[in-house]
Amino acid sequence: MYIRSVKLEKLTAELGYAAKLPAVKSLAAAGELEFESPVTYFVGENGTGKSTLLEAIAVKYGFNAEGGSLNFSFATRETHSPLHSAVKLVRGIERPRTGFFLRAESFYNAASYIEEADGGSGKILAAYGGKSLHEQSHGESFFSLVMNRFKGRGLYILDEPEAALSPSRQMSLLVRINELAEQGSQFIIATHSPIVLAYPGAVIYELTESGISITEYKSTETYSVMKAFMDSPERMIDHLFEKE
Ligand SMILES: Nc1ncnc2c1ncn2[C@@H]1O[C@H](COP(=O)(O)OP(=O)(O)O)[C@@H](O)[C@H]1O
Ligand SMILES: [Mg+2]
Repeated sequence: MYIRSVKLEKLTAELGYAAKLPAVKSLAAAGELEFESPVTYFVGENGTGKSTLLEAIAVKYGFNAEGGSLNFSFATRETHSPLHSAVKLVRGIERPRTGFFLRAESFYNAASYIEEADGGSGKILAAYGGKSLHEQSHGESFFSLVMNRFKGRGLYILDEPEAALSPSRQMSLLVRINELAEQGSQFIIATHSPIVLAYPGAVIYELTESGISITEYKSTETYSVMKAFMDSPERMIDHLFEKE
C-alpha cells in the first residue's frame, strides 16, 4: 500500500468547517483509518464529509486539490479545506509510479489542463486515448482516462467515479480496478453506487452523524436502499408519494 493509514492531529478552529464534521471529529478522537486492502471505500449520506476527507488525504499526499495526476499544478480557485494540514499519513515503503485524484466536481478543469499541456502536439493526449477530452462525453472521457492513463502500481483517489458512467461502464470500471489492483495499484474511492462499491474484499468505511465505522457491503445504505427500490419500484414509488 502506498498509503497505509491516515490519522488526524488535534483539530483547531483554523481548520474551519471540516473540524466540525462528526466523521472528522471521530477520526481525530479515535485513532486512525487503515488501508490494508488494495481498494478502500468511503460511503455515507450527502454531507457527511467523504469529499472533504478524500481531498485532505489527496492534497497531503501531493495531489493538486483540483484533481489530476501527481504532477499537475494548475489552480483556478482555492476551494479546498485546510484539513490536509492536520492529516498524518503513514506511507508505504514503495512510491507509486503514477496516480490520479478525481475530484467529483472538477474533471472538466483537469481535462482543460491536459489539453493545454498537450498544446496540440497530441503527445500528451495519446496517453488519454488520443482524442480531445472535451470532444468526448463526460463519461467517455473519464472512461478513456481510466482505460488508457491509469496504470499498474498507481495510487488512485476517486470521488464518485460513477457520476458520468452508465451501469455497464460502472461494471467495466470494476473490471479495470481489479486488473490494476492485481498489478499493485491502490484505490481509495468515495461512492454512492452499489456497483462501484462491490469490489470483493475491500474495506468499507461508512461516515455517519456519529462517526466512522467499518461495514459490510450488504449492510451499507447504498446497497439496501437501492435493493429495496429495484426489488419493487412500484411499491417504493407508492410509499414515497403517499399522502398523509
Ligand atoms: N467550502 C466549504 N465551506 C463550508 N462548508 C463546506 C464546504 N465544503 C463542504 N462543506 C460542508 O461540509 C459538509 C461535508 O461536505 P462533503 O465533504 O462535500 O460531503 P460529502 O462528500 O460526504 O457529501 C457538508 O455539510 C458541506 O455543506
Ligand atoms: Mg462528496
